[in-house]
Amino acid sequence: MDQRVFVSKEEIERQMALCDRLHCEIAPRGLRFYIETFGCQMNVRDSETMKGILARMGYAEAESKEQADLILFNTCCVRDHAEKRLMGNIGALKELKESNPALIIGICGCMMQQKGMAERMLKRFPHVSLIFGPNVVFRLPEMLERVLNGERVRMTDEEHFAIAEGLPRVRDNVRSAFVNITYGCNNYCTYCIVPFVRGRERSRDYEDIRAEVESLCAEGITEITLLGQNVNSYANDLPEGSFAELLYKLNDVPGLKRLRFMSSHPKDLTDDVIRAIAENDKVCHHVHLPVQSGSNEILKRMNRKYTREQYLEIIRKLRKAIPDIEFTTDIIVGFPGETEEMFQETMSLVREVGYAAAFTFAYSPRFGTAAAKMADQIPEDVKKRRLYELNALQAEKTVENNAEYVGAVGELLVEGCDQRTDETMLYGKFRNFKMVYFAGKPEQLNQYVTVRVLRTSKNSLIGEQVESNNG
Ligand code: 5AD
Ligand code: SF4
Repeated sequence: MDQRVFVSKEEIERQMALCDRLHCEIAPRGLRFYIETFGCQMNVRDSETMKGILARMGYAEAESKEQADLILFNTCCVRDHAEKRLMGNIGALKELKESNPALIIGICGCMMQQKGMAERMLKRFPHVSLIFGPNVVFRLPEMLERVLNGERVRMTDEEHFAIAEGLPRVRDNVRSAFVNITYGCNNYCTYCIVPFVRGRERSRDYEDIRAEVESLCAEGITEITLLGQNVNSYANDLPEGSFAELLYKLNDVPGLKRLRFMSSHPKDLTDDVIRAIAENDKVCHHVHLPVQSGSNEILKRMNRKYTREQYLEIIRKLRKAIPDIEFTTDIIVGFPGETEEMFQETMSLVREVGYAAAFTFAYSPRFGTAAAKMADQIPEDVKKRRLYELNALQAEKTVENNAEYVGAVGELLVEGCDQRTDETMLYGKFRNFKMVYFAGKPEQLNQYVTVRVLRTSKNSLIGEQVESNNG
């Protein structure tokens, strides 16, 4: 049943009118903002919206924290590591605030939506004056007005998790953009904090997604990455539609060259999705398919709802339907109860699949999640050793995977430029996500270039340009 709540058009208009009103106060003063983003692509996308709102309010973007009148930290709480880094970062801003008392320091993002966190941060850091969660970004104008009037503001959302459409956005990349298709998550993997801070899964309406993709492509974007915690369950909360259908429907957007998506949950990657990847020419041949563990016992404890065998079967089917497909994954080592044998099952799965790359993590207990309360927590030194072993294996597999590309010719979208003393090295990705470096000119940034792979270095592919398509 469709239980979604939308932020009303009137509310969005009210916030935008407030931006325009504050503009005449902020722009003449030459105020500047700086946003530091931690965590996943969802946060990157949220930061683009915040930049859009701030630009509409008359703020310019500062190049460093030192030059800024407003500093925002967009936080992540998926692992402990991100939290520790944030605390250090905020503590370090105390001096800056002392030398510039008008400086506004704000913290937002997932970590601020954790139970009790906002209060704790306000208490611990008196120089912070604004705190809000990821589900109330659309109210930034109203919050900032109050902060500019001298208030300390805290705003999180415990119940509605409403979808906000039609907010402005500032993009840094001129060719590639993220588009949300779902928000939140219903899966409750036992290690994961996301469902608690980003709320239950809500799908955007197809028309809103289509309109956003069309307008981005009209502005020159050619690569779109559809974002969701579990893109495969898109439309489960709508009367009709599915993720596979969405891929078919978006394939014909004028100007679109590459359609990507992440992340996929193996339990929902059905045959119709496999067919949609194979049959739509814009859909890229890469699937980020987090496996998390190769042990059935651990997968069960993680509440992942698939077995090792089912996972391998999906990989087999995808390879059969799409021979040049590449896989990347997420893996957690040291989940509570993971024995040495269970860990070795993860190692053997990694050997068997042959991922192009793996994002590997030591299990980090998150307060409020089921796994944090489980018995048999694994000592840190064991987790570290397993992580080291797994990374060493994946490094070998990456070398093997790279070796298959020597001699391959394909099109890259150039996404970065590495200026060395003697030459300019550019890098970009093939449609199937493999990254290639080649010597070129800085003007080729954001262009499509065809390259031939000549050799591999430890982690990467090195090629030469064959022709330039400037698409
Ligand atoms: N500890 C370690 N890794 C985690 N991830 C999510 N929660 C945790 C946790 N508590 C990892 C998962 C997920 C990725 C985004 O982060 O592998 O797929
Ligand atoms: Fe977290 Fe699992 Fe949802 Fe991914 S699918 S966001 S790991 S609960």
